[in-house]
Parts: sequence; structure tokens; C-alpha cells
Amino acid sequence: MVSVRAAIEVRAIGQRTRSGIVTLRDISLAVGYCELVAIIGGNGSGKRALLNAMSGLRPPSSGAVIRSNGAIGYVPHGDTVPAALPLARALRYAARLRGMADPDAAVDEVLRELDLTARAVTAVGELSGGERKRAAIAAELLGRPGLFFLDEPTDGLDPARGLEVMRALRNRCDRGATVVLTTQSPPDADRCDKIAVLANGGYLAFFGTPVAARGYFGADSLDEIYERLAGLGDPADAWSRRFSQFYRTVGGVSVPSVPPQPGPAQLVPDTAGPHSAGAPHPPGQGARTDQGAAAKQDQPATGDTVGPAVAHGGARGPAQRPPTRLLRPVRQWTVLAARNTDGLLRAPSTLAVLAGAPAAVLVASLLLFPSGAFSRAHPSPVADVTILFWTVFGGFFIGLGYGLPQVCTELGVLRRERFAGLGAGTYVLAKAAVLLPALAVADALVLAVFGALGRLPEGAAFGAAFVTLLLVSAAAAGLGLLVSAVVSQVSRAMVGGAAVCFPQVLFAGAILPVGAMVLVGRWVSYLMPDRWAFDALGRSMDVRSLWAGGGSALGRPMLASYGTTFGHPVWNDWLVLAGFTCVFLAAASTAIASRTHVVSRARPGRHAAVVPARPGR
Ligand SMILES: Nc1ncnc2c1ncn2[C@@H]1O[C@H](COP(=O)(O)OP(=O)(O)OP(=O)(O)O)[C@@H](O)[C@H]1O
Ligand SMILES: [Mg+2]
Repeated sequence: MVSVRAAIEVRAIGQRTRSGIVTLRDISLAVGYCELVAIIGGNGSGKRALLNAMSGLRPPSSGAVIRSNGAIGYVPHGDTVPAALPLARALRYAARLRGMADPDAAVDEVLRELDLTARAVTAVGELSGGERKRAAIAAELLGRPGLFFLDEPTDGLDPARGLEVMRALRNRCDRGATVVLTTQSPPDADRCDKIAVLANGGYLAFFGTPVAARGYFGADSLDEIYERLAGLGDPADAWSRRFSQFYRTVGGVSVPSVPPQPGPAQLVPDTAGPHSAGAPHPPGQGARTDQGAAAKQDQPATGDTVGPAVAHGGARGPAQRPPTRLLRPVRQWTVLAARNTDGLLRAPSTLAVLAGAPAAVLVASLLLFPSGAFSRAHPSPVADVTILFWTVFGGFFIGLGYGLPQVCTELGVLRRERFAGLGAGTYVLAKAAVLLPALAVADALVLAVFGALGRLPEGAAFGAAFVTLLLVSAAAAGLGLLVSAVVSQVSRAMVGGAAVCFPQVLFAGAILPVGAMVLVGRWVSYLMPDRWAFDALGRSMDVRSLWAGGGSALGRPMLASYGTTFGHPVWNDWLVLAGFTCVFLAAASTAIASRTHVVSRARPGRHAAVVPARPGR
């Protein structure tokens, strides 16, 4: 069993970015139970990198982080609450997603705690920056995390609000949570039990109490520490070397050179999240002991200040409430689908996309194509091909347009929910649950208008045409979700969307029949949903019979050049299109899972979650 004597032990971790830049170097520290710890340092010194490594959001490239089990809360920099929803409503969805028994009461409590009750009915997107920040904290507090990580929680808050947030966090520590935050505000850092000071380059320059830090750096205030770190003759690594004298390395692991306090470690089991193995801090066990409190005294940065956490003594704070239940994926899916629908109906910009995409397809078609192109007496085979292709491409375009903005616009929300135990597959299926009905309406509208205005053959199999259009739209929506899952901004998603549209046009077998393509092009065409949809739609419209027996001299030569196109059974094309949809949804889910992967799950029977170094680094 992994033994932990602290809530979080950071053991000689290093971190590199994907491009190889070193952001953290050989950092070791131990955060005690129920401590409030701030990570401070200059811009780019690696505060967020350290927070992410400790939380499991981005495992270190060397060393290891060992944490007690517990529900984990993480508030990243940026918005994490759906913007379109009124605040209380958004929080209620968050509470239901976590399976809380009484969401209303829990939401009322956190709104009061963060002084947001007056803003309960305001849409999150209309809150001020500081209010949105507090809303993000409130959403995480709902989960009653045992370990709570926050990236600059007081950034953008006025001093009074910042103080309130720090009080709320202290209050949570008193009730058994361990809180680690980054901050650029010396007063906020001063309110913490301990501070980790990072010097540029990712060096740990100090870890201990704020009072000890002032003594260590010879500074009257924490502000001056920044000057010392940047000061002449004191380069960053010199502070790190000086501080590292207080450590020794045992078996490749840095440990405080002063032996830890005696006493058995007490681990905190929990059941509140997927990363956990038991229940959150039991009532009355969430406080530091006298030894822990002693660490707050003015003292140099020795083992006393960096020493391991001590067992809970129950001296501070009331008991935590009972743990929330783990939601099953089906319940999560239900809550998310309801929230997605709610958000969709309340966001004018999303509604504009929903209505605008089919409207654009319809307007372009009606301006371009004459009616009667499918008349048996005077068919126009060239116009037939163009209309069929455009209808199919219209379905694809609408599906892609619906899917593209879905994930990249709510990465912050998604990350938070993944921390709270949401499965990536559940998330994607909840998106599909809302997009598919919307697509069905849009596709039915397009077909109905085309049919009513004579752009499609009379008496054609509209039911089959609708299924084809819906399937190609669904495949495109899946592709849109996949593109959206791998980019970070809407603008990039749009570029990605254009890139995936391009081959759909060329390889659909409409502009150039599949039989006329070179061999590689033919293989590529198999990968295009539009190719299969074009085939199925032509079959439903009985194009072969029209061209063979209609009154156009072009009909038979066209039939010859399009070869076996429109000759396959429709269900065959439908199966392929359904397959594309499943593959794209699965790929989107995998991309989301890998992108928001959180290493924090303990193996059954273990009391500690280990965040090992990423393999291959
Ligand atoms: N994805 C990335 N790719 C490349 N470099 C990165 C990446 N993320 C962070 N860095 C670099 O890592 C270093 C540490 O970044 P980090 O965000 O941890 O700094 P920080 O201390 O939080 O800074 P700030 O005070 O500005 O918020 C910076 O030099 C940054 O440029
Ligand atoms: Mg930062």
C-alpha cells in the first residue's frame, strides 16, 4: 500500500511542455491535511504547471505526486460555468450531475457562501468577471472537495471580494478540505498556512509559512520576495540551491532533511467522485493537530515547515456533510442532455446557427436550381446531379455547423465536469441527444421546402430521403464534435470545418463520378459520408429509371458515366453512414478523454492516488 503522511506529497517532480521547455525542476514539498497553501512567483515561473501536476491534470514528466484520496475540485483560470444559463440553474445542473440529494439546498448554501444570492437569476455570461470567478468556485464547492485546487481564484476580484473568497476557502479547510491555489496577490498569500515560492525557470525557491518566507528572503513583506527573486546577484536557481540545502535525496526522491513528526498517517477515504475509494473526511477529522498549527509559527524553512501532514485531530471545524453519490452514466446523460437543451434554447447565438444553417442551404438552392429538373418528360440530368449533391452536402453542412461549436466553446466547463467524474462518452452522447432532434427538424424542413417548390421529383420516397439526410447530418455532426474536441478556439474549429468540407465536395462522386476517379481517389471516396449519401439519395429519387426512360438524350450517357452509382440498396448506404456516425462520436469521445485526462484515480483497496510521471519522458 502507498503510505501518505500528508494530503499531498510532491516528490522530486519535473515538468516539460510538449515542445520540451522545462517548466518545473526537481520540486518536492508536502501539503498537510486541512492546510491552505498558496503557490506564488513571477509570471511564467510555473505556478499553474505545479498546480496542474499536483491536481493530476497534467502529470509530471519526472518524479511523482502522492495524494490522499478524496473528491477533487479544480477551478482553472477562465470560465467553467455554462454562460447561457442563469447562475442558480447552472449550479443546480452541476449539483445534479454530482448526484447530490438536495441540489436546491446545496446551491443556496454555496451562493450564500460566495455572496452570489442576489445574482442567482442572472445569466452567467452577464455576470462580471469577478462574479463569474466566484461562480466557478461555487460550482466546485458544491462537490465538497477534500482536495481543492484553484488557479488564481482571486484574480480580477476587488479586495473585499478577494478577502471573502479567501475566507470561504479557509472555512473549507476548517471543515476538512485541503486547498492549494496560485495567486499573484501577496495579501492573499499572507492569509495562507504555507506558501510555495517559485523562481523563474520552475525552481522551488521556498516552501513554508509566510512568516518564515519573509525571514528567509530578508523581506518585510511578501511583495519584496518578488524583488529578491528578480534581484541583482540573486538569480532564480541560487534561491533554489539555497533552499535545496534543506532537502536530502533518498533513492532518487527528495525528502525534507529534518525527519517527519512521529505519529501514524491518517488517510482520508472518500466516495464522492470517480477518483476516490471511500468517503470524504469523516466528521471531526478535518483539522490540523497542534503540530500542524505549530507550522504556522514564525520559523525558518526547515523540516518543520515542509514536514509531512499529521493525523487529523478534529480540533478545527464542523463535520463535513455526507458524501454525494456517484452518478451512473445514464443519470449523468439525462442531466447533461437537459442542460444542453436548456442552454441551447437560451443562447441567441446558438439559435442563430441552428436556424441559419438550413436557411442558408435553402436560399442558395432556391436561387440556383430551377424547378422541374426531375420531370419525366424533360429531365435535366446535369441539374439532377447538382441538386442531389447539394441536398446531401446541405445535410452535411448543417450537421457540421451544429457540431463544430459544441466542445471548444465549453472546454473550461468540460474540464471541471471531468474532474467531477463525468465520462467523456456520456458527454458526447448527451450532445448527440440534443443535436439529433434539431438536425431532424432542419433536414425535414429542407426536404419539405425542396419538394414543395418542385426541386425534387414528384412522388419520390421522401421518407427514405429524410433518413439519408439525417444520417449524413448525424455523421457530419459527429465529425464536427471531433474537430471541436481537438481545437481550443471557435475560429480554429471553423478552419477545421472548412478543411473537412473540401474533400466531401471533391470525392462525393458527384462532380466527378467515382468510376472516373484514379484508383487512390476512389479509395478516398469510400471515406466520404457524402459519397454514400449521394448514392442513397439518388436511389430514393429513382434517378436511374429517370435517366434511362426519361425524355433527355443526356440520360443514358450520364447513366453510363455514373456506372454503379445509385445502384446499391439504400440500407447498405445507411449502414455505412451510421457506421461513420458511431466512429466519429467514438473518436470525439476519445479525443475529449485524452485531452481532459485526470490522473487521480486510486486503485481499489489503496488509500492514496499516485500521479506518476508521464511515460516516455
Ligand atoms: N502549453 C505550453 N506550451 C509551451 N509552453 C508553455 C505551455 N504552458 C506553459 N508554458 C510555459 O511554461 C512556463 C510556466 O507557465 P505557467 O502557466 O505555469 O506560469 P505561471 O507561473 O502560472 O504564470 P502567470 O503568472 O503568468 O500565470 C511559462 O514560461 C510558459 O510559457
Ligand atoms: Mg498562471
